[in-house]
Amino acid sequence: MNFKTNKKLDMDRLDPTNVPKHVAIIMDGNGRWAKKRGLPRFAGHKEGMKTIKKVVERAVELNLEAITLYAFSTENWKRPPKEVEFIMKLPSQFLDTYLPELIENNVRVTTIGHYDGLPEFTKKAVQYSVERTKNNTGLVLNFALNYGSRSEIVDAVKQICENVKQDHLNSDEINERTYFKLFIY
Ligand code: FPP
Repeated sequence: MNFKTNKKLDMDRLDPTNVPKHVAIIMDGNGRWAKKRGLPRFAGHKEGMKTIKKVVERAVELNLEAITLYAFSTENWKRPPKEVEFIMKLPSQFLDTYLPELIENNVRVTTIGHYDGLPEFTKKAVQYSVERTKNNTGLVLNFALNYGSRSEIVDAVKQICENVKQDHLNSDEINERTYFKLFIY
């Protein structure tokens, strides 16, 4: 997810009534980006992190309600330990640098994924940003960290069961929207 240019988005060519509410981006291609330039994979991840800032700026300009950035999947733990360690430091680097700007722009930071499996220092940085921005009403910047489709389905089923058990939900009422209402910000 590395942009080729820094060109400002041509807002005039966009139909403001036809902009999606929620855009999800899989942060892929960092390694290829680096390889093409003769750089180590680490450099690609670092550039990917910087790209988040540009994406957030555009999302704010476009008045999007939310962006979800798929940053680190459960599969990604199989990468070399040094690479995993490097990637795990990026959320704190990003948030330490840009949190004031996110706050200034009324952005609310949220996360999805198996947050508990992350290293303490990653959790701490994310938790702090979630807490500091929880009352913001603008763009939702949702980081998918330690995410996996199978584990998300299991989580969804568990939460729906719990809601039915607690009488908050009738099983006859379960439909596709139930999932979104429970899990999307
Ligand atoms: C996939 O590219 C990218 C990743 C596994 C890591 C992306 C995560 C970040 C850049 C850090 C996230 C930062 C925050 C603030 C959450 P790849 O290595 O698979 O590239 P390739 O497809 O070219 O091999």
